Amino acid sequence: MRSREVDNVAPPRVEMIDVHVEYRRGRVEIEALRGANLSVAAGEFLAINGPSGSGKSTLLRAVAGLCVISEGEVKLDGRSLRGMTESELAVMRRRDIGMVHQLFNLLPDLSASENVGFPLDLDGFKSDEVRSRAIAEMERLGIAGLADRMPEELSGGEQLRVALARALVVQPLILLADEPTGALDQEASQKVMSILRELNGQGITILMVTHNPDVAAYAERTVSVVDGAIID
Ligand SMILES: Nc1ncnc2c1ncn2[C@@H]1O[C@H](COP(=O)(O)OP(=O)(O)OP(=O)(O)O)[C@@H](O)[C@H]1O
Ligand SMILES: [Mg+2]
Repeated sequence: MRSREVDNVAPPRVEMIDVHVEYRRGRVEIEALRGANLSVAAGEFLAINGPSGSGKSTLLRAVAGLCVISEGEVKLDGRSLRGMTESELAVMRRRDIGMVHQLFNLLPDLSASENVGFPLDLDGFKSDEVRSRAIAEMERLGIAGLADRMPEELSGGEQLRVALARALVVQPLILLADEPTGALDQEASQKVMSILRELNGQGITILMVTHNPDVAAYAERTVSVVDGAIID
């Protein structure tokens, strides 16, 4: 057990300070985040809600270093993403962060197990180790039977669990999950949520976007994103 003193000085796992993100489409500029502030301690389980278009997915992408921050900064364990080189950012994304995108983003030409193993492939693991670790992760999520299916042959809920396995196969410090239960019925949602709670119990910090109050109830804290800012 860490002492209270140590906890007090440890920086937050995720910190956003006055973060602004803009998207440009032709001459139109959309300010998706307008001064977002957030602090998430290591091991916390945070739910994020808010109206459609308010900036929730952008917020997760900003934490993963996947969008350009025009103002403010994102820090992970006290370290600003701004100070990282492209290759440091890439390594951080591959090893420290697991992300489940809103539309899962499975690679259509790879089988389920190849999708799960893809981050390990990128990280230079040998192909038999990639396969065995991918299958082990799929077993953990109860989907080993889907290993050789192609994404188009999977239901929405199955695709979600494959995307979750892919996010978790690297054993990340942080899981970013964008409406992970959006396409699931109540029973399937509860299964996924108990997996997330178990992972959180093992120490993974979770930031999860959800519109569903029953799902958010699994988290320790809920914040809202409204017009690109965070309301605690
Ligand atoms: N790639 C993009 N290019 C231009 N505008 C974008 C892009 N992605 C998002 N936006 C805009 O930025 C704003 C925030 O989008 P974001 O996807 O973060 O919202 P959200 O809260 O996740 O919404 P939802 O609940 O519908 O998923 C919206 O106005 C959206 O139209
Ligand atoms: Mg979204």
